[in-house]
Amino acid sequence: MKNQWLALGFMVSMAPLVVQADELDLARKSGCLACHSIEKKVVGPAWSDVAARYRNNDAARAQLIDKVKRGGRGNWVQVTGGVPMPPYSPRVSDANIELLVDFILALE
Ligand code: HEC
Repeated sequence: MKNQWLALGFMVSMAPLVVQADELDLARKSGCLACHSIEKKVVGPAWSDVAARYRNNDAARAQLIDKVKRGGRGNWVQVTGGVPMPPYSPRVSDANIELLVDFILALE
């Protein structure tokens, strides 16, 4: 019995990791990882820096969804030297763009 609970606890604690791996895979398939990584600036800002900048900002989710859909520049010029983020709609579905933004905003 004890082992079953342990196994269940293990599965539950692993669940968020599995979800993250799926979203990272979606990011890879969508082409985001050509310019982004979680920890480091590549062409675009590190996604962990994006999460840190917009933490506690209730308007951020909608703004970032819009930015990924339509592209643009100006928010990270000091990091990127002014390179724009390309537009992703309709190449990536709205639902997947929302998944990606939620994933980014939830990063530590
Ligand atoms: C060609 C390179 C490139 C690709 C590919 C790319 N990005 Fe970006 N991204 C950038 C740059 C450059 C910026 C900084 C834009 C700015 O200065 O406002 C950025 C900024 C962002 C931001 C922060 C926006 C803000 O206004 O603070 C998010 C979120 C983001 N990217 C998500 C994504 C997602 C999701 C994908 C894939 C669907 C993606 N990026 C693909 C270059 C890229």
